[in-house]
This record gives sequence, C-alpha cells and structure tokens, in this order.
Amino acid sequence: MADLRSKLPRMEPETAQEFYGRWARLYDVIARRTPGIPALRRRAAAACRLEPGDTVVEMGCGTGANLPYLRDRVGPEGTVVGIDFTGPVLERARDLTAEYDNVHVVRADATQPPLDVEDVDALLATFVVGMLEDPAGAVDDWCDLVGPDGHVVLANAARSDEWYAPPVNAVFKAIVVLSTPPTTKLRYENEPDLRLDAKIDAAHRRLRERSAAIADETHVFGVVRLTGGHL
Ligand SMILES: C[S@@+](CC[C@H](N)C(=O)[O-])C[C@H]1O[C@@H](n2cnc3c(N)ncnc32)[C@H](O)[C@@H]1O
Repeated sequence: MADLRSKLPRMEPETAQEFYGRWARLYDVIARRTPGIPALRRRAAAACRLEPGDTVVEMGCGTGANLPYLRDRVGPEGTVVGIDFTGPVLERARDLTAEYDNVHVVRADATQPPLDVEDVDALLATFVVGMLEDPAGAVDDWCDLVGPDGHVVLANAARSDEWYAPPVNAVFKAIVVLSTPPTTKLRYENEPDLRLDAKIDAAHRRLRERSAAIADETHVFGVVRLTGGHL
C-alpha cells in the first residue's frame, strides 16, 4: 500500500470542484430522489431549530436539495444562505430556489466563509465534512460563526453499526470509492470508508464537545448520522 498511487495509471488532474461540476445533474437526482434522503433532509432542517425570520447558512449546499426545507422553516421573513465552491452545482441550486427572494446562493470556500454573514441562527452541513482536510477545525470555525445559543447540524454517511451492517457497509464502501474524486487521496487508500469514518467521527465529536445540548440520530439503515448541537 506504501504507494499504491504510483502503480496506478496517470490521471488528468481533477479537483473536487471539477468532479462535482461534471456530475452536477446526476448528483442532483441522487441528492433529491434517493429513497430515505428527502425525509432525512426534512429532519436535518428541523434539527436546526429555526424560527420564522431566522438566518440559516448551509455549508457545501451542492445542488440545493436542503434549501427549500430550510426556507420552509424560516418563512418569507427569514434568510437562507447556501455556500459551495463548485459553480455548476450552484447553478442548479439557483434554479431550484428561483421562486424565493430570500434564498441566496454564494460561491465560496466553506472553510473560509464570507465574514459579512452576521447573526447566523443555525448552520447546516450535510455530506460535506468528509471532504475537508480538517473537519474538526471547520466545525470549530462554524460554531464560532454561529455563536452561543445557535444550532449547528451535521449529517454524514458513515459505516453502519447495525446488526445487519456487513452488506450495508459493503455497498457503502463501493459508493465511497465511486463518489470520491479520482485525484482525492482518499480514493486510493486501502480502506477509504474507514478514513472517511475517522473524518466524520472527528467532526461530530467536535460538535458534541462544543455544544451545550446534543441530539444524535441515525437514518437510512444506520448509514447516515445526524448530530444537532445547541451551542
Ligand atoms: C457530497 S456533496 C453534498 C451536497 C449537499 N450538501 C447535499 O446534501 O446534497 C459535497 C458538496 O460540498 C462541496 N464542497 C466540498 N468542499 C467544499 C469547500 N471547502 N467549500 C465549499 N464547498 C465545498 C462540493 O462542491 C459539493 O457540492
């Protein structure tokens, strides 16, 4: 394994942005139509504990599948900001939310969020922290952005701990490999699903440490972990 990458054919450089940009349409269908996922998104929006008129930021919003659920929660007086660094997915997010004038989609790095976002009541990140170099550090920054009494909610796919886990985890591992951009180091590691698990554990653990109250749930055969933290 020392250098499995050196044994692989050379590939064209492809960044995470190019990868998600190329697959934006397909990703959008998967993100919005996979059985169990719309219910999860509704649940994640509920875990943000939003009130009408609140402001909520979604980090790595992708094609915007969560944005309508967040808009439902804050109503016409509230504000929803979706941040992602991939242009083509944001175009789909803009199309999806075109009917709302209080949903804003911004191209930016979720680990260096625009500082002019103030008075954030809640922050949501679904299926994102596994892509970050320092997931716990990002969670720290996000908790700082939201501040005391706000909510930070993470949802991520990781290996199932249920009694029927082995076949579920085998499918999960295949999905991790196929959905990881080819130049991402994670894809060539022996156990990419374990490495992803470690990143997700680190992010959820840090959110627990930073929160005064926590709600933990699992969904979709135990593969999706949802942690809501009240700071
Ligand atoms: C697996 S998709 C999840 C999209 C969406 N949250 C969902 O639940 O469908 C990951 C998204 O995170 C975005 N992303 C990854 N790292 C990012 C970063 N550092 N800053 C902004 N967006 C990022 C990617 O562009 C991609 O759209």
